[in-house]
Amino acid sequence: MRHKVTLIPGDGIGPEVSEAVQRIIEAVGVSIEWEPTAARGELERRGVDFMHSGVVEAIRKTGVALKGPLATGVVSGPPSINVGLRKALDLYANVRPVKNLEGVQSRFQDVDMVLIRENTEDLYAGLEHEVVPGVVESLKIITERASTRIARFAFEYARKWNRKKIHGIHKANIMKMSDGLFLTSIRKVATEYPDIEYKELIIDNACMQMVLNPTQYDMLLLTNLYGDIMSDLAAGLVGGLGVVPSANIGEKVAIFEAVHGTAPDIAGQGIANPTALLMSAILMLVYLDEAKAAGRIEGALHKVYREGKSLTRDVGGDATTKEFTDAVIRTLDK
Ligand code: NAI
Repeated sequence: MRHKVTLIPGDGIGPEVSEAVQRIIEAVGVSIEWEPTAARGELERRGVDFMHSGVVEAIRKTGVALKGPLATGVVSGPPSINVGLRKALDLYANVRPVKNLEGVQSRFQDVDMVLIRENTEDLYAGLEHEVVPGVVESLKIITERASTRIARFAFEYARKWNRKKIHGIHKANIMKMSDGLFLTSIRKVATEYPDIEYKELIIDNACMQMVLNPTQYDMLLLTNLYGDIMSDLAAGLVGGLGVVPSANIGEKVAIFEAVHGTAPDIAGQGIANPTALLMSAILMLVYLDEAKAAGRIEGALHKVYREGKSLTRDVGGDATTKEFTDAVIRTLDK
């Protein structure tokens, strides 16, 4: 079967890692008709804003996108495109599997957890205003509808992927109404899934537990901001953002993306590591019902890491992006 996928190569190292992933998917024999979006630099030269360049409609049509990193300004500048796309397409569930990759140095072994983050509301609603000069207000929006929806997604995910335990993460001891509503919504859903153990932890304790003993976690269910922070913390325990995937899932549309940034310091040098985007592409292939091909790529990737001869600089090797990509392709089915 031929799939149509929107490709957002992204900024900085984005085009380099996207090309590597496309080559590997082609080599494994999955037929994809890529629909690349226009480069951001080119759009800016033409005075077109990326979010208004037809990208949302393009993704809605194909239903699936693979996305490289996009640069976002800090403090000033337009809102984040990443957040904009999630909102525009109602990609309410962010799925972040975190697992050791043999061959990558990390503080812990046997980490294997999945963080599910609510993606559409909380402080990311972007509702900020100046009350009077020197005083700003940022609104934390939590709704029963979104909390129930993400809870149901998490419990269904647990059943589908044979996970046994979910921790709901909160600060409802302080934010009794907002985080309180998140928790009560999860509790209601949890009663429908007696086969999945449900526990709760306050976010500060959950972070401490995460760095002391991450193997105790199976799945974590979080609001937007806590999920953003804790998923990067978890990634750090297994080697960082370069070796973990991410998926943003909605009812009919999904975007699979690398969670690292545009790496401006190494962009254009041909030394970027495509592993994170490749891992996200593996999740994408499973979503497209190409689980066998996904498994073959995953097997090759793990083997290349285990052998350790063709790794990029960020993970201790000296291979270029192309050498690493060639090694994965050579290793398919070996
Ligand atoms: P960054 O992730 O781009 O870079 C941090 C460090 O990690 C740099 O030393 C970089 O060389 C290295 N690195 C990152 N990805 C790598 C890869 N695939 N291979 C080898 N080395 C890699 O984070 P930074 O510098 O904070 O952000 C740069 C830009 O990226 C900003 O404009 C930021 O807004 C954007 N960004 C975009 C994200 C997204 O689109 N999902 C996520 C995070 C940042």
